[in-house]
Amino acid sequence: MSASQNRKPHVLAADGSSVKLPRHVGFIMDGNGRWATSRGLPRTEGHRHGLQALRNVIRHAGKIGIEVITIYSFSSENWNRPETEVAFLMSLLRRFVQRDLSELHDANVRIRIIGGRSDLEPGILSLLEEAEELTRNNTGLNLVVAFNYGARSEIVRAVQSLAKQVAAGDLKPEDISEERVSNALDTGGLPDPDLIVRTSGEMRLSNFLLWQAAYSEFYFCDLHWPDFDEAAFDKALECYGSRERRYGGLDAKAL
Ligand code: FPP
Repeated sequence: MSASQNRKPHVLAADGSSVKLPRHVGFIMDGNGRWATSRGLPRTEGHRHGLQALRNVIRHAGKIGIEVITIYSFSSENWNRPETEVAFLMSLLRRFVQRDLSELHDANVRIRIIGGRSDLEPGILSLLEEAEELTRNNTGLNLVVAFNYGARSEIVRAVQSLAKQVAAGDLKPEDISEERVSNALDTGGLPDPDLIVRTSGEMRLSNFLLWQAAYSEFYFCDLHWPDFDEAAFDKALECYGSRERRYGGLDAKAL
């Protein structure tokens, strides 16, 4: 059964009412460092607990029938962090793929990686590609891992691939449409995010899914990512369910 066949477009809210479910939720998992330092722990402990929060979010998203989640796990700017922290995040990703892959595969999760691949260490790249390959035919939750990801460089890569098709005579400039640009992005073929959640009180996109977020709803909460649990996820979904999306048009009541 495909994810869309599995979907329950509405879930029950805490008060028993029915809530409209987003198809695609993006997560900016912020605040791991602050979570750790506020407890007198090294920042890496925050990332370790952040991975546990992520596992819970993946499980919950699959259970309630969300089609796609995209997680911002390492941005192209994160290379500027201290070498030890970067090394820890790389080892955490390795651990995540090695330890969780078979469980994710059994749960019918399809993994997809977005972000620059050419400058990744070959060991990491092959691990990520193996995860994509193993889960390619799964039909449950799509887990999109934004790794070494930056939206501007994703857009540049998409423009370069379209420019190459024009130079080869395979595409006319006037045939470059929004749809073609969307399909040339790393997320090509996926629905745009309906909801983007950012934890830890910051209210910015930080180079995450800039093109795809044109009509996304945003949800910001003060919890640090390691504290973001199922109840916090449900609260974000309830808030999304109460939003009126107009895509530049008018509220039906105003017509
Ligand atoms: C931002 O918090 C978080 C990150 C840069 C990494 C996110 C990683 C995880 C949630 C763990 C799962 C990881 C993988 C690789 C699957 P921050 O460190 O910027 O927090 P701060 O703003 O409080 O310093």
